[in-house]
Amino acid sequence: MGRVFISRAIPGDAPGLLAAAGHSVEQWPKDLPAPRDALAAALARSDAAITRVVDQGDAGMLAAAPRLRIIANMAVGFDNVDPLMAADAGIWLTNTPGVLAETSADLAFGLMLALARQIVASAADTRAGGWKSWTPTAFLGTDVHGATLGVVGMGEIGEAMARRARGFGMDVLYASRTRKPAAEDRLACRWSTLDALLGQADFVSLHTPLNAETRHLLGPTQFRSMKPAAMLINTSRGAVVDQDALVAALRSGKLAGAALDVTDPEPLPLDHPLFALPNVIITPHIASASLATRSKMAAMAANNVIAVLEGREPYNPVNRPLHPRV
Ligand code: DGY
Repeated sequence: MGRVFISRAIPGDAPGLLAAAGHSVEQWPKDLPAPRDALAAALARSDAAITRVVDQGDAGMLAAAPRLRIIANMAVGFDNVDPLMAADAGIWLTNTPGVLAETSADLAFGLMLALARQIVASAADTRAGGWKSWTPTAFLGTDVHGATLGVVGMGEIGEAMARRARGFGMDVLYASRTRKPAAEDRLACRWSTLDALLGQADFVSLHTPLNAETRHLLGPTQFRSMKPAAMLINTSRGAVVDQDALVAALRSGKLAGAALDVTDPEPLPLDHPLFALPNVIITPHIASASLATRSKMAAMAANNVIAVLEGREPYNPVNRPLHPRV
């Protein structure tokens, strides 16, 4: 039976599922991710691995892991391991689609509301004793209802965000590589080029995967074309945004605010200029972090591992190994 490395304690009963299928489990015991060499050593002695987006796999590491048959990433995104590189090494790469879209959109929508209505800043001020009386001019925010939302990337999470926006009476534009007529009918949203969307949206919410095309999708030019009162919500990947350009846009008033669940790098150093800006909310990559959803993600990853170790194809492959190891 197989030996499975799990790169961090995970919720739910994934280790139990693996044990019930007869596999032994080794779990990285520390809070911080395993350093490269420790991760490489763990992969080298394992038949399967359950990883997180913070675990970076490189070619040398995979080549030195002759037993490894599957990397089951506990995330829908898989920019931490190159699928083709894994395929070349004969290793399945899987992800966790479907189960986290609604939970992730809940957070994206919540961040938009929190940013627009200064929920985080006003709660902190209240706790610090700043609430002296009802003040007509205090914490004046921006209305979300009736505003225009630009959804960039219309996959499952983008659609879930658009659906929430309709409930708030928002006008929804979306930009994505392929047009989605069914989503347009269902959600009464309109397709747009990215440039046109940026020029019209009051809120821009990013939902693209990170790849060569989307790295720094929003940079100085894009920030210049946004409305000065617009706000950015990023729950996709930090590197989709050119962070230096974001800081410059926020500092110069070309952009009114940003709520970021993802940064580049993660975690962001505490002396990073984004932390000094009052119109920024940063959360620690928690979009999919509900107990129910993270438990489902962990179980999906475990079931992908079990399938491959039993000689079957995984349920959620994002690559097909050239010569799967048996
Ligand atoms: C994902 O699923 O890609 C998230 O970013 C991790 O929660």
